Amino acid sequence: MTTANGTDESVPADAAPGPDRPVVELRGAGKSYGNIRALHGVDLAVHPGKVTCVLGDNGAGKSTLIKIVSGLHQHTEGEVLVDGEPVRFTTPREALDRGIATVYQDLATVPLMPVWRNFFLGSEMTKGPWPVRRLDIPRMKRTADEELRNMGIVLDDLEQPIGTLSGGQRQCVAIARAVYFGARVLILDEPTAALGVKQSGVVLKYIAAARDRGLGVIFITHNPHHAYMVGDHFSVLRLGTLELSAERSEISLEELTNHMAGGAELAALKHELAQVRGVDVEELPEADELQAPVKASTAPPEGTP
Ligand SMILES: Nc1ncnc2c1ncn2[C@@H]1O[C@H](COP(=O)(O)OP(=O)(O)O)[C@@H](O)[C@H]1O
Ligand SMILES: [Mg+2]
Repeated sequence: MTTANGTDESVPADAAPGPDRPVVELRGAGKSYGNIRALHGVDLAVHPGKVTCVLGDNGAGKSTLIKIVSGLHQHTEGEVLVDGEPVRFTTPREALDRGIATVYQDLATVPLMPVWRNFFLGSEMTKGPWPVRRLDIPRMKRTADEELRNMGIVLDDLEQPIGTLSGGQRQCVAIARAVYFGARVLILDEPTAALGVKQSGVVLKYIAAARDRGLGVIFITHNPHHAYMVGDHFSVLRLGTLELSAERSEISLEELTNHMAGGAELAALKHELAQVRGVDVEELPEADELQAPVKASTAPPEGTP
C-alpha cells in the first residue's frame, strides 16, 4: 500500500513490466485551472480485466482526473501513458481512438429517441453507396438487441424512447455500447450516485461484466460500499492529492469507509449531533474507531472476486 507520505509498504506483483502492463497509467499527474490546483502528483494504473476505484469527497478532483484521461482537459503536470506511451489528448475523440470510453454522469443520450438509436448515436450503421447511403435500421436494431443481451441486459422493447428507461438501465445501455464499440478502458463518473439500492446493484453487475470481458474499468464513486463490491484497487483522493492507494488484499471495507469518512471530522459531527434532541447517534461508530490509523489489513478480506 502506498500512503499519503509516499512510503511503499509493498510492491504489488502486477506492477512489474510484462503482459499485465497497465493500459492507462498516470505518473505524478496533475491539473491546474489558472491558479487553482485541482489535482496534483497522482499515480494511478489501470489494468485490463481490473476495476480501479477512484474515491473522494466532493471537490476531491475525481472529475478532473477522468477529464485528463478522457481527453476533455489536458494535464499540466506529470505524465499520462497509454500502453506505456506518453499521450496528451486534445479531444475526447483521440482518447476514444485509443479505446478509452467515458460514461458521464449526465449521459449524452437523446431522451426521445429509441434505445437502439441511442445505442448507435454518432456511429450509425449505413448501407448503400454514397450518395444514396442511408441508415441500416434493421441491422442497428438487431445488433443493439444482441449486444444488450450479450451483456445480460434484457429490455422489452428497443423502440421505447431511452428517456423512459430508469437511470440504472440507461447506465447499462451506455456500458454495453462502450463494450460494443471496442473500448479497452471504461471510465464511469459516479454511475450510482443518483440511483437507489437496487438500481445501483444492477449497474455494479454490468461493471463486473465489463471487467470480465477484459476491460480496464475506472469506477469513480464516493460510496465505499459500492467500490468494495467490485473493486480490485482503491485510490482515495483528498483535496486533489492521492491520500491512499491500496490493492483489495491490503484494505478492508471498514478501513476504506473510515478513510472516506474522514475519521476526525465524523467524530466531531457525532459530538455535535449528540447535542441535538431527536438525533440517534448510537449507531454511528465511536470516535476512537474512527480515528484509528488505517493500515494494511493482515487478513485478506473475504469475497475477493
Ligand atoms: N473548470 C474548472 N475551473 C476551475 N476550477 C475547477 C474546474 N473544475 C474543477 N475545479 C476545481 O477543482 C477541484 C476539483 O474538482 P472536481 O475534479 O470536479 O472534483 P470532484 O469530481 O471530486 O467533485 C474543485 O476545487 C473544483 O472547484
Ligand atoms: Mg465530480
